[in-house]
Amino acid sequence: MNWDDTTDPDTDAAGERLVGPVADREDQAVEAALRPKDLGEFIGQEKVREQLDLVLRAARARGATADHVLLSGAPGLGKTTLSMIIAAEMGAPIRITSGPAIQHAGDLAAILSSLQEGEVLFLDEIHRMSRPAEEMLYMAMEDFRVDVIVGKGPGATAIPLELPPFTLVGATTRAGLLPPPLRDRFGFTAHMEFYEPTELERVVHRSAGLLDVEIDTAGAAEIAGRSRGTPRIANRLLRRVRDYAQVKADGVITREIAAAALAVYEVDARGLDRLDRAVLDALLKLFGGGPVGLSTLAVAVGEERETVEEVAEPFLVREGLLARTPRGRVATPAAWAHLGLTPPRAHTPGNGQGDLFGA
Ligand SMILES: Nc1ncnc2c1ncn2[C@@H]1O[C@H](COP(=O)(O)OP(=O)(O)OP(=O)(O)O)[C@@H](O)[C@H]1O
Ligand SMILES: [Mg+2]
Repeated sequence: MNWDDTTDPDTDAAGERLVGPVADREDQAVEAALRPKDLGEFIGQEKVREQLDLVLRAARARGATADHVLLSGAPGLGKTTLSMIIAAEMGAPIRITSGPAIQHAGDLAAILSSLQEGEVLFLDEIHRMSRPAEEMLYMAMEDFRVDVIVGKGPGATAIPLELPPFTLVGATTRAGLLPPPLRDRFGFTAHMEFYEPTELERVVHRSAGLLDVEIDTAGAAEIAGRSRGTPRIANRLLRRVRDYAQVKADGVITREIAAAALAVYEVDARGLDRLDRAVLDALLKLFGGGPVGLSTLAVAVGEERETVEEVAEPFLVREGLLARTPRGRVATPAAWAHLGLTPPRAHTPGNGQGDLFGA
């Protein structure tokens, strides 16, 4: 059942992480103020921006409602932000709801039937909607019509209800979980990628301006490099560095200040935190770089198997520091380099080093 989703490992298993991608309470409080308001202000995602710009411009020129848009990508990359931008660019009001909030088809029918013409309906976590609601959505998206079921049992009747044209903007962190019939009903799908360090640098500069924090280019680059490709994390690290700069210095963020602040919070130069480094450290020092089984690795760092697998590993794999192989977890040469360790010499016969004789 696709709405019976697992809880989020970033806030659950590992407590609140400074580099966790999912919004915590503090993020939610400040994010509204930091959100770009139109496509021009939205940093990075060049392809998505260009494509979306065409879709919206064309709809505006036709005086029509924009096609339904699906936004897919990891948490904190700007899906909610883009949905609001779509509404703003279309000059349309926006209604915000989410898959888990729509338990019954009736909930969806109530929302759909109260939409104004041209309104944007933002459906966050669309992969977690209930099946009956999903089926109602198919018809609403395609024909701007729903069948409202009145009564129960054999006496139940379906009353067709016309809907005003609207734009559905769906967001999902798991595009793969969407049933194909739903995916196919979107006119445009935007895949959001992780951001380049230079793009995050611009995000940091922009946010610093809005938060009235003084920061130099090197300071912004330092924060950007530790933000794991994610604007939400960049904004969060910026706030922690700002605190440090206020308390320990004159409030201005330089490279030295940013590095010292993030050392306090145990976020290293590549954005790894304590848990990520503990996993790598055990893999390298206790198991010679692997291969080692996940359970063994988890015991070695004193964490649950799921925590290692779902919280630490995805970023380590993405960074090319760790590989998951059929025989177990293996460190890459980059992992050895990152922790400043020398990998054991490869026991390759005939390399002229006398390895065959146990030298
Ligand atoms: N391209 C961007 N330029 C500037 N800031 C951005 C950009 N993308 C995201 N942000 C900032 O990052 C924060 C998180 O973005 P947003 O809430 O849109 O992410 P999301 O993809 O909806 O995440 P989730 O999957 O958790 O809902 C916001 O405060 C926003 O200001
Ligand atoms: Mg969101």
